[in-house]
Amino acid sequence: MSRRPVAVFAIAPWAFDGVFPADLLTRLRQLVDIDPAARFTSLAGPAAAAALEKADLLITGWGCPRIDADVLAAAPRLRALVHAAGTVKARVDPVVFEHGVVVSSAAEANAVPVADYTIAMLVLGAKQAFSRARRYAAAGEDSPRDWLSGEGTGLHGCTVGVIGASRIGRHVLHRLRQFDVEVLLHDPYVSRAEAARLGAELVGMDDLCRRSDLVTVHAPALPETRHMLDGRRLDLLPDGAMVINTARGSLIDTEALTRACADGRVSAILDVTEPEPLPPGHPLLGMSNVLVTPHLAGAQGRELRRLGEFAVAEVSRFVNGAPLLGRVEPEQLPYIA
Ligand SMILES: NC(=O)c1ccc[n+]([C@@H]2O[C@H](COP(=O)([O-])OP(=O)(O)OC[C@H]3O[C@@H](n4cnc5c(N)ncnc54)[C@H](O)[C@@H]3O)[C@@H](O)[C@H]2O)c1
Repeated sequence: MSRRPVAVFAIAPWAFDGVFPADLLTRLRQLVDIDPAARFTSLAGPAAAAALEKADLLITGWGCPRIDADVLAAAPRLRALVHAAGTVKARVDPVVFEHGVVVSSAAEANAVPVADYTIAMLVLGAKQAFSRARRYAAAGEDSPRDWLSGEGTGLHGCTVGVIGASRIGRHVLHRLRQFDVEVLLHDPYVSRAEAARLGAELVGMDDLCRRSDLVTVHAPALPETRHMLDGRRLDLLPDGAMVINTARGSLIDTEALTRACADGRVSAILDVTEPEPLPPGHPLLGMSNVLVTPHLAGAQGRELRRLGEFAVAEVSRFVNGAPLLGRVEPEQLPYIA
C-alpha cells in the first residue's frame, strides 16, 4: 500500500469505549488514518459517504449497519472489514465476499469468556452450588441443615457431553483436559481422529445424551440445530443430569426443558433462552434447579478490550500483508455462528 491506509468505524457508541480504550486507539492510529470521533451506525447520508469514499478498511462492531451493495458502491477502495465483535455473518451481505473484501471477526476473542463461564458453571453446577445456596439462604431455624447432602455431586469422574467443537467448544475441550472427566463430543464436522486429538470421544447426539452427566451446548443456531435437544433427547439424559446452554436458545426445546426441570429429573444453567429474554414469571425463572443468566457469558466489561485487541492486531496483520487470524470465508457461512 503506497499511502497510509484509511479506516472508518461503524460501531454503536455504547459498544465503543469498552472495546477500544484510549491505548488501543493510539495503537490503531499508528497503523491507519482513522477519526475515532466518527463512528457510524448508519452508512447512508453525506457524512458516511465522504468517509467511505476514502476507506480501505471498515472496523465494525456491535450496532453496525449491514454491509451491502450500497455500502460497497460508496466505498470503492474498501479491501477489508474487521469486526470487533463475535458473529459477523448477519452483518455482511454475500456481495461483500464477491467483491473480494476480506472479512475478519473477533469471535475467537469472544470465545474466551464464554469458555471461562462454561467451565465455572460445569464446576459449580456439578456441585449443585446454586440450588444448595438457595436452600441455605432460605433455611429457617428449624429447617433441616441438609444443604451438603447430595451424593453424586462434583465434577470429578463425570462424563461431560460437548455439543459442537466450535471455537468456544474447542476452548472448553482444551480446559476440560485439566479435569478428571470423560469427554464426549457431537459434531458432524469433526472426524473421530480429530475428536480424539481434542481429548474427546466422537458420538452421536442420542449417545451423548444417554451417557452425559453434564451436557454443554456450543453449536451455532442453524436450521439443522434447532431443537437439537428436544423432548425425546432430554428424556435420554440420566436422572440428575445438567444441561448448560451458552449457545443460542433455539438449540433447546424450551417447553420440553421446562417439563424436564419441573419434575426435578434434570437441572439447567441457561445463558441464552428461547424466547430471550424469558417473559417475567416464566416457570424456568422460579425453579431452584435452574439458573438463568441474562446472556452475559460473552465479552462484558473488562473483557471487551480483548475484542479491540484482536481487531487492532488484525488491522496490523492486514496492513503488513499477513494472513488474518479471524478471516471468515464465504463457504463457512452455512455452518458457523
Ligand atoms: N452466550 C454468549 O454470550 C455467546 C457469545 C458468543 C457466542 N455464543 C454462541 O456460542 C455458539 C458457538 O459460537 P462459536 O463462535 O464458537 O461458533 P463457531 O462459528 O466457531 O461454530 C462453528 C462450528 O460449530 C460446529 N457445528 C456446526 N454445525 C453443528 C452441528 N449441527 N452440531 C454440532 N456442531 C456443529 C462446527 O464445528 C463448526 O465449525 C454459537 O451458538 C454462538 O451464537 C454465545
